[in-house]
Amino acid sequence: MKILICYSSQTGNTRNVCEAVYKSLSEYAEKDDSVEISDIADNPSADYDAYIIGYWADKGKADSLADSYMERIKNKPVGIIATAGVYPDSDHARKVLDYGTEKLRSNGCTVLSEFICQGRICQRLKDKFKNLPEGHPHYMDEGRRKRHEDAESHPDENDREKASEIFRKFYRELKQTI
Ligand SMILES: Cc1cc2nc3c(=O)[nH]c(=O)nc-3n(C[C@H](O)[C@H](O)[C@H](O)COP(=O)(O)O)c2cc1C
Repeated sequence: MKILICYSSQTGNTRNVCEAVYKSLSEYAEKDDSVEISDIADNPSADYDAYIIGYWADKGKADSLADSYMERIKNKPVGIIATAGVYPDSDHARKVLDYGTEKLRSNGCTVLSEFICQGRICQRLKDKFKNLPEGHPHYMDEGRRKRHEDAESHPDENDREKASEIFRKFYRELKQTI
């Protein structure tokens, strides 16, 4: 069985979680199976038995590179790893995961596992938020300020371990179906 972890990452958060999952699965997988990792920007082939797609939240959706890549994956078992500025248990985080899940399902894929955690927000976006007027939907109120501050330390060790555990389970499930 060949599994590809392919991610899109602008500032390294998504890559960080995907690399941890890659390391964990490489050690965990049986020797006849192979686990590979690739940046989606390197345009990896679509010739694997299963995929783990990593993307970052962009306006409530998957970022555009990952979005286009997902269109190429048809009828495969898949997992999703996402990072976002919001808290992982929020409605917005659910929406970000649902976006990828629905897209992949509409291509005949079976989504076996999902993971999302916060990822540090880049300075450019923080500066943009800082200057918005009160009343704007992204105005930097106390809740948003706290969320950005909390995101600073993510992904952290706990996120990486939680994702690794979820994808070890993903691997075991795959073994039963492939
Ligand atoms: C242009 C832009 C749009 C973003 N949109 C969202 C969003 O809609 N929801 C969210 O929770 N985070 C959003 N974020 C935050 C990123 O998804 C988050 O920081 C992510 O961890 C970045 O991942 P990366 O380091 O792999 O690029 C956005 C960031 C940028 C730069």
